[in-house]
This record gives sequence, C-alpha cells and structure tokens, in this order.
Amino acid sequence: MSSTQSKNDDLKKFRKLSLLGGGEERIAKQHEKGKLTARERLGELLDISSFQELEPFVLQRNDMTDDPQSRILGDGVVTGYGKIDGRPVFVYAQDFTANGGSLGEMQSHKICRVMDLAVQNGAPIIGLIDSGGARIQEGIHSLGGYAEIFRRNALYSGVVPQISIIMGPCAGGAAYSPALTDFILMVEKQSYMFITGPSVIKTITGEEVDFESLGGAQVHLATSGVASLTARDEHETLALCRALVGYLPGNNMDNPPSYPPADEPFRMDAVLDTIIPEEETQPYSMHEIIQRVVDRDSFLELQPVFAPNAIIGLARMNGNPVGIVAQEPSAMAGVIDIDASDKICRFVRFCDCFNIPLVTFVDSPGFLPGVQQEHRGIIRHGAKVLFAYSEASVPKVSVVTRKAYGGAYIVMSSKYLGTDVTYAWPTAEIAVMGAEGAASVLHTRRIQNAENPDAERERVIQEYKEKYLNPYAAANAGFCDEIILPSETRMKIIRALEIIKDKQVQNPARKHGNPPV
Ligand code: HXC
Repeated sequence: MSSTQSKNDDLKKFRKLSLLGGGEERIAKQHEKGKLTARERLGELLDISSFQELEPFVLQRNDMTDDPQSRILGDGVVTGYGKIDGRPVFVYAQDFTANGGSLGEMQSHKICRVMDLAVQNGAPIIGLIDSGGARIQEGIHSLGGYAEIFRRNALYSGVVPQISIIMGPCAGGAAYSPALTDFILMVEKQSYMFITGPSVIKTITGEEVDFESLGGAQVHLATSGVASLTARDEHETLALCRALVGYLPGNNMDNPPSYPPADEPFRMDAVLDTIIPEEETQPYSMHEIIQRVVDRDSFLELQPVFAPNAIIGLARMNGNPVGIVAQEPSAMAGVIDIDASDKICRFVRFCDCFNIPLVTFVDSPGFLPGVQQEHRGIIRHGAKVLFAYSEASVPKVSVVTRKAYGGAYIVMSSKYLGTDVTYAWPTAEIAVMGAEGAASVLHTRRIQNAENPDAERERVIQEYKEKYLNPYAAANAGFCDEIILPSETRMKIIRALEIIKDKQVQNPARKHGNPPV
C-alpha cells in the first residue's frame, strides 16, 4: 500500500471515529431516551446532504483533564454550515454523548468560530443546545468560554438572526446564550432551562419542584415567555425552525425572502364585513381576522400562549414576509399589560432589525388597571412599546378594527408614532376612553341632578358614543388615512406595502438609544 493511500486511510479512520462522538454505547443511551444525536439533528434541520462540518478533530487541551478518555474528537459540539430551503445558515449542535455536551474552552472556540463566520457571511446562526453546562473540570476556562459566546450573542444581535433550539438540558448561566438570541424553540417533555436547578432551590428556599415544572417547555411557553415556540418532538421542532427561517433575511442588510404568491392578492373576504359583533363588549377572534387577511396558511404565531391578550407572529402578504402585531379581544378584552408589552416590544424591535414590515391590528380598551400592574412597572413596560414603534423605521401599516382608547391608541402604531398608512374599519372607536368612563368624568353633575339619573346616564353614554366612538372624528382630524370596508383590508395592506417598501427614514445619529426595559 502506498504511503499516500495509508494516509488517506488514516483520515477515513479518524473521520469515522469523530462521527461516533462519545462512542456507540453513549449513542445507544441517547437513542434510548428517544433523543437524536447532534449529527442526526443537523441532518434533519438542513437540506439533504448540505451539511459541511468544520473542526471535527478539535480536542480538549491535554492540561485540562486528568482523564484521557474525556478527550473526544470534536470536543462535544458539531459545528459547520449548510442550507435551509437553499439558503445558507451556520449551525452548532452540542453532542450530549461527549461529556454531556458540556462546554469547555475548545468547544467555546468552535461555537464562536461559526458565530463569526455567520456574521462575516451574512447568514443566520442556529444553535442546538443539549448540554450539562459549564464543563466542571475546565473551571474558569469554561466560564470564560461562555462569556465569549454571550458577548457575540449581544454584539451580533440585529446583525444576523440568531435561533436557539433547546433539545435537552440548558441549565445555569448557560441559559443566557439562548436568552440573548432572537428565538428559542423547545422540545416538549425533553428540554428544560433554568438558572438554578431543583436541588439548589430546595436548599435555598425550601421549595420542591421537578425539572419539568421548573423549566420545561410548557412553563417557558405559557408562563415565563422565554420560549417562542415548542413542538411535540425533535422532528417537529426542527421542522418548525426550518419554517421560521423561511421568513427571515440572512442579515440586517438583506430583505426577507419573497416567495411566489400562493394566494390572490386582492381577494375580498366578505366574512370580515360582519365579523365584529353588534354588541361592543362581545369578543370576537382577532386570530381569525389575521388568518383571513394574510396569505392563506402563512401565519406563524410566536409565543402563542404567553400574554394571549397580545398576538405576534410572522406571515406573508402577497408572498412577502410581514410581522403581525395585534390584540386578541377574546383574551382579557385585549388590554395591554406588562407581559403583553414585553411580548410586543421585543417582536417589533426584531422586525425592525431585519427589515420586516409591521402590520398592526388594534382592538384594545387600554392598559390594564390595577395596583399590581402599577407596582410592577406598567409605566416602564408600556413605555417600551412606544419606544419600539417610534424607533422602528420599517414600513408600518395599522388597522383599527374596534377599540383604540387612550394610551392603547397611541402605542399601537398610531399615525404620529411614525406609522406610514393608518386604516380604520367603520366599527373603529378611536377615543380617549370608553363611553362609561367618559360619562362619569364629564357629566357627573348632569347625571346626579337629573330627575332620572339612570336614564340620564344612558342618554349621556349614547351621546358620547355617537360623537366620539367612531372612526370619523379621527379621519376628520387627519389621524386616520382611510376608513375601509373590512373586506378590503387585504387589498389595502398589500397595496400600501408595495408603495412604502423602499421608504427611507433618517433618525438622528446616536450611539444607541436607552429604551426602558
Ligand atoms: C462535565 C459533565 C457535565 C459537566 C454532565 N457531564 N454535565 N461533565 N461537566 N457540567 C457528563 C457526566 O459526567 C456524564 O459523563 C455525561 O456527561 C452524561 O451525564 P449524566 O449525568 O450521566 O446524564 P443525565 O443523567 O442525563 O443527566 C444530565 C444532567 C446532569 C442533568 C445535565 O449531568 C447534571 O446535572 N450535570 C451537571 C449540571 C451542572 O450543574 N452544570 C453546571 C451548571 S453551572 P460520562 O462520562 O459518565 O458519560 C453552569 C454555569 C455556566 O453551567 C455559567 C456561564 C456564565
């Protein structure tokens, strides 16, 4: 055998070894738990045969361990690049079979390398997390490694989209890397995230809790708002990630990808003309309105069960991605509370980073009143929605479907926050407050002095409704560009977005703003 041949054979042998990560036994253990290996996951996430691995032979430094067995080719993470629907992405997947995917110095170098390449090449970075956290044997080197990743997460925010998929454990400070990224996807009943685990919590506070109830997918989807999306298993979660990437540009200088329109752009939907109930206190489904207005089946809702009074998500209008923000009147009447403010603000800022136009549907009676909300800082949180919309320079269109009272009117993409085109339906009620509240503030004496106070109160309310609770006062004063039939909404939004898609806005130069957080 020629020496060249034997060198080639050596390479093949090392390649084979590196593909085994922590070895066949640990791979079998991973499969027994119903989990895929890091490479199997990347195979599903990326277009067939598109994955190209980088640095598969990286090893933990000799002086970082006393145990030669712990030096596993690749050092517990598989990194590289590939394609999703033909578009490039950079990826890393922690390999739980190699030292529990724990992060040491060399693993950190590998992750940072693909993050840097993603930014240099203007493509999203997707991290698949399945790790025991900081590699205990590497001590400070491991903590420094995390800091290197966190710094890149922060500095690359708004430069390329960053997505984290939590496939297993993500505990301790390690959870801060996903938290700094744009989207967190979690696998139900398999992944968990927390800063301090059940045993430490029990020692410190005495509370008893298991992994799932502390930081499982459902907790982060519904309660903490940490997760953007969850799915039943790894396959569905990886498919969700592929779908999500389909709405995003590669970087902040690109436009999001256009797809051939799969729906009639000027489709009129007569159902919308009667979707608002006669009785103003009766709820209806804003989700249904969104589904009927955007391209058929294109709405990908994010954080669907956290703060359900607010709706955020990505959709397409005539094949072009848009960010949808709305209230859901059938959840807490669509009030804006602290959680809804958080949810809306972060999403508006994300869309603005990545040139995704914003379409806002408004039906809100205002900010949620209450001592608890005030004490927890609804002023600070509500202000960040104002900040986000005011700062956003992407094309912005809004549609008031029913209530737009007071502060809720202003924050939800109102005209003088810089919204390009503002529409209202004939059922819109754009006013400082609702009729009941206004009647008691303005006409207390008239009602008290009346012969029949109840009847007088009713009369005052009716007068107020006729005078103020309509879209015409706003349209007369130039606060609303057009009052439209609900059935025309899709056509009007598509036409508006076509015209304003290349708008130029020059905000004053600065290092960066200081939004209330
Ligand atoms: C080194 C680790 C490790 C770690 C797991 N392993 N975590 N090695 N450092 N942090 C190794 C195990 O020794 C084992 O090696 C293999 O990975 C699989 O682990 P198991 O415990 O057998 O798996 P499982 O039963 O599924 O339990 C998974 C686990 C548990 C719940 C994640 O391993 C665990 O609690 N690990 C420690 C978690 C932790 O406290 N991390 C530090 C968090 S603090 P063998 O050779 O047997 O296969 C932190 C700070 C970050 O991360 C700060 C950033 C600023």
